This record gives sequence, C-alpha cells and structure tokens, in this order.
Amino acid sequence: MKKMQRKWGFIATLALLVATSACTRQAEVAAPSESPKSAAEVKVADFKPTATLQEIMLSVIDPNIDPIWNSISTVSTAEGITEVRPETDEDWEKLRNHAITLREVANLLVIPGRKVAHPEVSTSTHHTELHAEAIEALIAAQWPVFVQRAHALQDAAGLAISAIDEKNVDRLEEVGGIIEHTCESCHSQFWYPDDKRPTN
Ligand code: HEC
Repeated sequence: MKKMQRKWGFIATLALLVATSACTRQAEVAAPSESPKSAAEVKVADFKPTATLQEIMLSVIDPNIDPIWNSISTVSTAEGITEVRPETDEDWEKLRNHAITLREVANLLVIPGRKVAHPEVSTSTHHTELHAEAIEALIAAQWPVFVQRAHALQDAAGLAISAIDEKNVDRLEEVGGIIEHTCESCHSQFWYPDDKRPTN
C-alpha cells in the first residue's frame, strides 16, 4: 500500500510536471497572440533613440546645413567683392555628403519616444521659447503636423541634392532658402508658437 501511494504520488507529480511544462510552452507560444503587434509596431520597438531632439539639432542638423548655406556667399569689403562658390569636384562632393545626411536626419526626428532635451539643459533662452516638457506635449498633440514638417525638411534636402548633382549654384542658393523656411516653419510651431513676430 505504501508503495502504491508512492507510485501514485509519483505519477501525480509527473502529470503535474507535464501539465506545467505544457502550460509554460503554451504560454510561450501564445504570448505573441496575447498582445498582438502589427509589423509596424514591432519595428518601432526596434528603434532605440539615444540623442535628444536638441542634440540632433546641434550635433547633426547644424553641422550639415551650415556648410551648405556657407558654400555660397558674396562679401564686399574695401578691397573689393569676394565671392564664395563651390568649385572643385571635392567641394561638390562634400556638399553632397552634408545634404545626404540632412535628408536622412529627417527620419531621426520622427522616431517616437525621443526626448526633446536632457532635464538639465534648457531649450528656452528667450521668453517666447518653450521649455522641453511643453514642446514634448505639443509634438504629442500635433504629431502628424510634426511629421509633415520633418518631411518638408527631407524634401528640401532632396532638392539640394539635385542642385548639387547639377552643380547648379543659383539653384543651390535658392534651395538654401527653401530649407531655411522648413526649419522655421517647424520652429515657429513647436518651439516658439507664441512668438507673434512675422516669420516670413
Ligand atoms: C520637425 C521639426 C523641426 C525641424 C524641421 C527643424 N527643427 Fe530645429 N528644433 C526643433 C524643435 C522642436 C526645437 C526646440 C528644442 C530645442 O531647443 O532643441 C528646435 C531647436 C533648434 C535649435 C536650437 C537648439 C538649442 O536649444 O540650442 C537649432 C540650432 C535648430 N533647431 C536648428 C535647426 C535647423 C538649422 C533646421 C533646418 C535645417 C531645423 N532646426 C529644423 C524642431 C525642428
């Protein structure tokens, strides 16, 4: 009898083990369908934003647009007029690299979950400029518009690439203005929306 009990006990334990492991396995297999995720959502989860929006402005956007804006200028001094223009193939290639980076950086702006600024760094040096939390709230509330603004920058950078490929100085100068306008229309909406000065 004692032996029997032990035997049944053993079988019961075994059954329990089988049941538990089946359960675990089922849980493992069932997990994805318990929280269905679209392919797009899974891809969003793959992004790991590290820089703040402010760092992208200062470390990626500025250093890539400035050489494009500065590549064409006319300065008149007492000695005469100095014209700066891209001339050599190397000049054009450098500009192209900057424009490619600028076009692609638009995608970095629309990665969800990116912080606007580190807590210790202010985004407001003028009273009309919003603080980071307010900017984040605005971006969240008007996400589709924010994305549109980022895409406008992307399209304008694409125009710069075309002008560079054609080595067309006049067109590149014109596109420089178009790019500036795309910066401004995002800033005036999300950074200093209360600034009533004409922005055009
Ligand atoms: C899709 C929106 C968007 C676009 C497009 C955009 N910015 Fe910004 N930018 C912001 C926001 C929001 C802030 C305010 C937060 C901050 O201070 O970084 C900002 C701030 C800045 C700052 C100030 C950073 C600081 O706080 O010191 C600079 C400089 C800047 N942008 C440069 C540019 C330039 C140049 C372009 C165009 C080539 C551009 N941005 C395009 C959204 C944008």
